[in-house]
Amino acid sequence: MRRVTFVSTNPGKAREVRAVLRPYGVEVRWIRRTLPEPQAETLEEVVRSKLRATRDIPGPVLVEDSGLFIPSLGGFPGVYSAHFLRIWKFRPIFELLERRNRRAYFRTVAALRVGRRTYLFRGDVHGTIARRAAGSHGFGYDPIFIPTGWDRTFGQVPAERKNAISHRARAVRRAGEFLARRHARSRTA
Ligand code: IMP
Repeated sequence: MRRVTFVSTNPGKAREVRAVLRPYGVEVRWIRRTLPEPQAETLEEVVRSKLRATRDIPGPVLVEDSGLFIPSLGGFPGVYSAHFLRIWKFRPIFELLERRNRRAYFRTVAALRVGRRTYLFRGDVHGTIARRAAGSHGFGYDPIFIPTGWDRTFGQVPAERKNAISHRARAVRRAGEFLARRHARSRTA
């Protein structure tokens, strides 16, 4: 069994990451720690900086960062998603989108450190911004995001349905595939 330490303050993310990595034979140890989030322009910069703050943790380490990107608003709130939500909640997004295209996507970038190397994995889920918030499942922007092909928000479905297609699951699955391939190579070498 391979082991990875996932570092985050969010227990929901830790549960999701554990469930996604289990089929790859990867056991997840969760360390709850607040990591610095620099005011950076890309998720890649944010995760690299988060990973640097975990240098004291031995073995493979996984961190991630996510955001909601709305192309008709120039990608906003994007890397500022957490800050924006804390201060404003959803109303300004509804107002800004009254006359604009409502397409949006969630993106996660996961960063994995194995030994001295860092690997990045990206996952996206596309959809639209709802006209009003709906549902009490999930967290963050889930009540206003309708994935493409769905008739309801992420907030209106149980975690398993969201996790089947979520940006985070997609990024973390790529990390799982990478770890499984690496493990298989080291066993046949
Ligand atoms: P972070 O990755 O925890 O920094 O997330 C940035 C912001 O996006 C926070 O406000 C989160 O609540 C929000 N966010 C991240 N992932 C999700 C998600 O899966 N659903 C809804 N909101 C999310």
